[in-house]
Amino acid sequence: MVKLTGYKKVKAAVFISGTGSNLKSLIKFSKTKKSPISINLIISNNPKAKGLKLGKINKIKKKVFNFKKNYKIENRILFVLKEHEIKVILLAGFMKILSKNFITKFKGKILNIHPSLLPKYKGLNTHQKALNNYEKYAGCTVHFVNSKLDSGKIILQKKVKITKNETRDSLAKKVLIQEHKLYPKAILKVFNL
Ligand code: GRF
Repeated sequence: MVKLTGYKKVKAAVFISGTGSNLKSLIKFSKTKKSPISINLIISNNPKAKGLKLGKINKIKKKVFNFKKNYKIENRILFVLKEHEIKVILLAGFMKILSKNFITKFKGKILNIHPSLLPKYKGLNTHQKALNNYEKYAGCTVHFVNSKLDSGKIILQKKVKITKNETRDSLAKKVLIQEHKLYPKAILKVFNL
């Protein structure tokens, strides 16, 4: 971890369920001098999440939780977060919905990245929905998490143009590249930097 002179980085946990490409970009960002956060913990609901490998490579602790018993699991997660002095949670492709109780405990401290220009296309299959509606633009949004799905206050958005023969996959690729840039920028904005 790069330590800044003058102040300490705020400890963050990243929650993932899959590939972890956003996690990768967040780790890279967290190691820069200008980053206000360090990533101290990776949490996943999925033991097979590819992104978990990034924990080993970057010497970041990782924990997998089985979400089937939601209520108890969240209490265990809260305990682990406390243990690691985590102050900020970054959801990055995390496919589980956190309870109101959990969110309240981290009020204003949970961020999420969503692959659409919210408030349009909450939930899943965002790119297909945008194509089905003949949208001219798609994009991504970083927002605070509240108890309603993909509805918290928007921090930053990035638009991408939908081209003529755009497919769901080509659009997903284009948007993902922008996600990797947008999340760090949103973090800087939240910390007023
Ligand atoms: C991203 O498109 C993110 O916006 C969405 O799930 C995808 C996760 O990708 N919530 P990755 O695991 O960060 O590669």
